[in-house]
Amino acid sequence: MRICILGATGLVGRETITLIARAWPGATLALFASRDQELALDGKSYEVLAASRLEAADAPRGDLAFVALDDEHSKRYVPRLLELGYRVIDKSNTFRADPKVPLVVAGANSDIVDDAVRLVANPNCTTIPLMLALSPLRRELGLSAVTVSTYQAVSGAGIATLDAFLAASRDGYQGLDRLGLPFKATGYAGNTVPHNGGTDESGFSSEERKLMFESRKILAMPALDVSAQCCRVGVAVGHYENAWITFERQVDLERVASILSNPAEAPFVKYLPGAAGEGLSALHCVQDRDRALVGRLRPDPRDRDRKSVCLTVVADNLRLGAATNAVRIATRWFKSADPDLQAP
Ligand SMILES: NC(=O)c1ccc[n+]([C@@H]2O[C@H](COP(=O)([O-])OP(=O)(O)OC[C@H]3O[C@@H](n4cnc5c(N)ncnc54)[C@H](OP(=O)(O)O)[C@@H]3O)[C@@H](O)[C@H]2O)c1
Repeated sequence: MRICILGATGLVGRETITLIARAWPGATLALFASRDQELALDGKSYEVLAASRLEAADAPRGDLAFVALDDEHSKRYVPRLLELGYRVIDKSNTFRADPKVPLVVAGANSDIVDDAVRLVANPNCTTIPLMLALSPLRRELGLSAVTVSTYQAVSGAGIATLDAFLAASRDGYQGLDRLGLPFKATGYAGNTVPHNGGTDESGFSSEERKLMFESRKILAMPALDVSAQCCRVGVAVGHYENAWITFERQVDLERVASILSNPAEAPFVKYLPGAAGEGLSALHCVQDRDRALVGRLRPDPRDRDRKSVCLTVVADNLRLGAATNAVRIATRWFKSADPDLQAP
């Protein structure tokens, strides 16, 4: 089995290398990035080639490709990979809205990936864990409305932004006064800021629109009432989401907890009982990288019909929110040696 990773030197690409060794230990890896270089990772050195080499007439054909590039470069390379015979999982936004391309959360709607599918879009890093929590509940209770507020880690913006954030945090905390004035008011370090890239005439940012659009597409509920507000917090890895969910039927909290605690009903979810949210933090998910942590389940006090709950979902944006989901999608085509990475 020959597997390509495009964007292998980036945050998501590096995680993908590690996961491939677990899912398909015998696979031959071909790594690509912006230029020829060596990548040092986990005590090993990997040869990385310029992705433009894939455009050569004699570029090697292969079985599976993970693309962890920005939108512009995904648009350039995904068609070429398909031409070369690869099955492709693309992690950018480029193909998510294309009605011909399945948008898939492994464990939620991965049954739509069969042998006939050649290209799958991997959803946004906040959509994936939210769908893992919502889709099993929706099967039993029906879903009417979802409101979500996100607190997203800086690594969601890529390796260069993460490294700049770490350096600014180190400097800012060294000179710290009690107000945090040494930090830049518009920066990520020591701060919480709106996730406001791509804000359009609706007033919502592209991150917020992605979460709303993708939820509707994955759940196949084009009319679902969903609203999202997203911000970035000064955390390296781990996206935190607070959700208010209204179902079609009355909710028995014990039944909701039992669905979320059962891996056969809610795959890749770790349910944490208790409204106080013990064990539920951005850094807890970095210790449990391939699952969505779900907890703080409570009735929504505004709803006298007992159809609404509040809950919190936390997940590692680089792993469950990106690389792990992509690898699990591909296990629909190529069985994983590690059962934890096998999509149902
Ligand atoms: N980070 C997350 O939490 C997350 C979650 C879900 C989805 N995603 C999506 O996944 C994709 C990758 O994100 P990331 O965070 O891993 O980004 P990243 O850390 O910034 O890495 C970007 C990768 O793209 C490569 N690249 C840059 N210019 C290129 C070019 N001209 N030709 C070929 N390769 C080029 C870089 O290679 P060099 O090292 O050679 O520059 C690097 O390997 C993005 O579409 C992102 O939106 C990210």
